[in-house]
Amino acid sequence: MDTALLESRRRFLAGLGKAGAALAGASWLDAIGYAQGARGAARALIQQPRVRMDFERTVLGSFLEHLGRAVYTGVYQPGSPLADAKGFRSDVVREIKEMGVPIVRYPGGNFVSGYNWLDGVGPKAQRPTVLERAWNSMETNQFGTNDFVDWCRLVGAEPLLGMNFGTGSAEMAVAYTEYCNLERGTKWSDLRRAHGYEKPHNVRYWCLGNEMDGPWQIGVMQSREYGRKARDAAQQMRVVDRGLQLIACGSSGTGMPQYLIWDREVLEECFDQVDGISLHAYYGNTTALTGNSTERFLAMNLDMDRQIREVAAVCDYVQGLRRSSKRLWLSFDEWNVWYRARSGDATNGRRQFAPKLLEEVYNLEDALLVGGFVNTLLRNADRVRVACLAQLVNVIAPLVTNDTGVLRQSTYYPYAWALRYARGRVLDLRVDSETYPIRAAGLQADFARNDQVPFVDVVATFDAQNGQACVLMLNRDLQGEREIALDWRDLTPTRVLACETLTGTDLKAFNTFEQPKRVAPQRLDAPAAGARMTFKLPPRSYTVAQLAAT
Ligand code: AHR
Repeated sequence: MDTALLESRRRFLAGLGKAGAALAGASWLDAIGYAQGARGAARALIQQPRVRMDFERTVLGSFLEHLGRAVYTGVYQPGSPLADAKGFRSDVVREIKEMGVPIVRYPGGNFVSGYNWLDGVGPKAQRPTVLERAWNSMETNQFGTNDFVDWCRLVGAEPLLGMNFGTGSAEMAVAYTEYCNLERGTKWSDLRRAHGYEKPHNVRYWCLGNEMDGPWQIGVMQSREYGRKARDAAQQMRVVDRGLQLIACGSSGTGMPQYLIWDREVLEECFDQVDGISLHAYYGNTTALTGNSTERFLAMNLDMDRQIREVAAVCDYVQGLRRSSKRLWLSFDEWNVWYRARSGDATNGRRQFAPKLLEEVYNLEDALLVGGFVNTLLRNADRVRVACLAQLVNVIAPLVTNDTGVLRQSTYYPYAWALRYARGRVLDLRVDSETYPIRAAGLQADFARNDQVPFVDVVATFDAQNGQACVLMLNRDLQGEREIALDWRDLTPTRVLACETLTGTDLKAFNTFEQPKRVAPQRLDAPAAGARMTFKLPPRSYTVAQLAAT
């Protein structure tokens, strides 16, 4: 670290109250740049990061599973007046293009563990209808891999393909990569050409199965058994294409009994053959997880921070064991709020085609927490290379369709802001914020912590290409406005280009087709641009500021 940076850090820390400094040393929050501050305005010291590299946009990806109405009537609805010649919903394409979703994971999720990719390619009239067993639904296979890749090209997203490690063999997984990525002259590449796709799809990212530790998963496995299968498949896949980025299945949540042990044992088997490991997490404002406390709920992105640190530690541990120079990256390829439409009829398709499953209705407090997750992912973007908001359309999604259009749920806004404004490098922040306590008593073990939570959660990015900075700020204070003073060190904002906030008096308010703007951004008065800018964040709010800076 250069001496100017060290000196400015020293001055900043010296400025903190004594109690704050002591706590800063003790709390794990210090590792993500937070110190407990005195009452009053929060303060963020913003500096250029040490690593002068732009973050990968793939950390802001999403997910589309053959589940409920995600694919059928979500993105694909031939015969609808809203569909194009290929059957893709044009209104949904427009939304996703405008959002700029960089990568989309497909086709599952639990679905993938019983999926035969061959059923979904070739002439549509010859594709079989099958009983899909993860969600007990009818699958017509009218939308498959080539259709998905076409759709990705249309919306401007990169495909991230999942492989069937449940009922599927390593051989068919390897055949899938050959079908997608090999130019010509082999059985599977020539089959793709016969299906009308002369050029290979060149899919870069691949998930080696899905949640293979979950008892609910078709073909659930033991860690070492899975790790050896992943190693074997990966080794063969690299013969097909040396450039693949392969993601091993990590634990499917912090609540799994084998959480971290699974990750370690899997990596002990396949560390050398893979590039990343997956993390999944769903959160909810429930009796078990939060004691139905919104204060606790809005702190849950800090649980995501902790999960990232814990899984990264396991990766580094196995790296050490193997005396390897390879540092694995993390793929947080399923994350969201999901707790209402999570059992019973909401998860059982009852052998229907495109049944209404997992159609979670998102309210204001969910959107605020999604903002928190975006902050967490961005500040960990040096380690998390891929992340997917699960999911994109209709199923636990920011976008919902009906026969006449598409609705933006509350959670659309924080995600869309990050996609639109957060670019370039993630800046280095030291945040000094007053905190509030959360208590462990009575909560599910993986979320039970006695801790101090900063009222203000903030991240910032700077894009050297266009000279624009973005600041994303969560105010967890349910009662009061909070001020945050931004102290810019190596950059100086010269103009405020945009400043919007998502807030409201009713944390349970949500959007409907009849009332689509109940939870929607409002313009917020921003301070004058300059080296010190004090924002006044409304209570219960998530705010974005886009700034020109030099
Ligand atoms: O995203 C919904 C489901 O949640 C996925 O199919 C599965 O991977 C996870 O358990």
